[in-house]
Amino acid sequence: MQTWLRRKSIDRVTVHEEGRRLVPTLSWPHLVALGIGAIVGTGIYTLIGVGANLAGPAVLLSFVVAGVVCACAALAYAEMATLMPAAGSAYTYSYTVLGESIAWVVGWSLILEYSLVVSTVAVGWSGYAVGFLKGMGVELPTMLTVGPHAGGLINLPAVLITFVVAGLLIAGTRESATLNAILVVVKVIALAVFVAIALPHFDATHLEPFMPYGFVKSMGADGVERGVMAAAAIIFFAFYGFDAISTAAEETKNPGRDLSIGIVGSMIGCTLIYIVVAAAAVGAMSYTVFGQSPEPLALILRELGQGTAAKVIAGAAVVALPTVLLAFLYGQSRIFFVMSRDGLLPRGLSKVNPRTGTPVAITVFTAVLVAALAGVARLDEIAALANAGTLAAFIAVAVCLLVLRKRDPNRPRVFRTPAAWLVGPLAIGGCLYLFWSLPRTTQLWFLAWNAIGVVVYLLYSRRSSLLAKGGDA
Ligand code: ALA
Repeated sequence: MQTWLRRKSIDRVTVHEEGRRLVPTLSWPHLVALGIGAIVGTGIYTLIGVGANLAGPAVLLSFVVAGVVCACAALAYAEMATLMPAAGSAYTYSYTVLGESIAWVVGWSLILEYSLVVSTVAVGWSGYAVGFLKGMGVELPTMLTVGPHAGGLINLPAVLITFVVAGLLIAGTRESATLNAILVVVKVIALAVFVAIALPHFDATHLEPFMPYGFVKSMGADGVERGVMAAAAIIFFAFYGFDAISTAAEETKNPGRDLSIGIVGSMIGCTLIYIVVAAAAVGAMSYTVFGQSPEPLALILRELGQGTAAKVIAGAAVVALPTVLLAFLYGQSRIFFVMSRDGLLPRGLSKVNPRTGTPVAITVFTAVLVAALAGVARLDEIAALANAGTLAAFIAVAVCLLVLRKRDPNRPRVFRTPAAWLVGPLAIGGCLYLFWSLPRTTQLWFLAWNAIGVVVYLLYSRRSSLLAKGGDA
């Protein structure tokens, strides 16, 4: 077989050498918590403002579009994750179904996704943390709270929170997952409080004109690409995270049942929450008021004269948004881990610490990288690039689903995607359309990142791959 087409065997992806195996400690409540913990975050808390700015009140439609595409992708994920309950998610599925070179591109895109999600959420967290402290009478100097693009030096709160979360992860998966479950409840209750206060102020005149920038992405006079789809391509950020659950597959006790419940359940729950929150936000006041805010939900409540509730929301965001960081930092270190175990990245990175059972070196390495980025980057730009990486992974998973249905139709499937030949193409087409709707510069950055990836693959990974050496780790 051609080098670039070589595939791992599906039956062997769950078998690993001693010392490079993760310990199964999680079950489905952990996974639903991990799912909602990873999904509800900066997307709904902060990017809802960016989205409203791009689409006007029709950001509601953006939520629906992004939600439908994600639901299709989630169904494809559920089938693949239960078929291959091994760490690595889209990367591992691609390695067994589409071959090594595609798997490399997917893994490389996942590294981009997970890193940038962590950086984005750290910046979003910082927005609420700075606002919260200000409400308490503590004003931090701008130099230390925003990056150079906004006239500051470094976003220090964003850097610090990244390291705190990395420390939690290093202490061990199980403890982190339990703490995560508690914080998920805080985060969801805070959104419920927001809806309870904002919804009674719903005024239909705030929804007019409903679609000021049209549906399809188009360039405005100010050089910004707007429209319902442009907003959907950003809002997409709010929906993913269920894929982080599948990266925990190898550490799950009963993968067949736990993963299906975890992925599908958390996805449906979050979609419902978002539509209600978004309707409450755009109905309560004109989107022009909160569109630019680094803490839009808190701002809306303040504008409604609910200062105390605003502090509660900000406080909840400060306490609970780190669950998203936790899930994605976890996912990131596991992607690195699996790629290194396969020999595509240096093997030294995949050693598990015998005391904590976690890959310590890789977690620290990841944290340093994403903290540096969070310190200087602009929220909407890194969110858009994270989305590009995610879209690539989603497309690959849906393709894997369809290819495997054709190639290996009789393999027992714990979870079968309903109407796969409708859902799969919908996921692929929807993701392609969302990718097209991203800002042009984001698309170019994404291509540049993958061009670097291809060079690394050709110069290093292709030869160091365990498969190239005759192994099948
Ligand atoms: N869906 C996650 C968030 O919105 C990434 O923060």
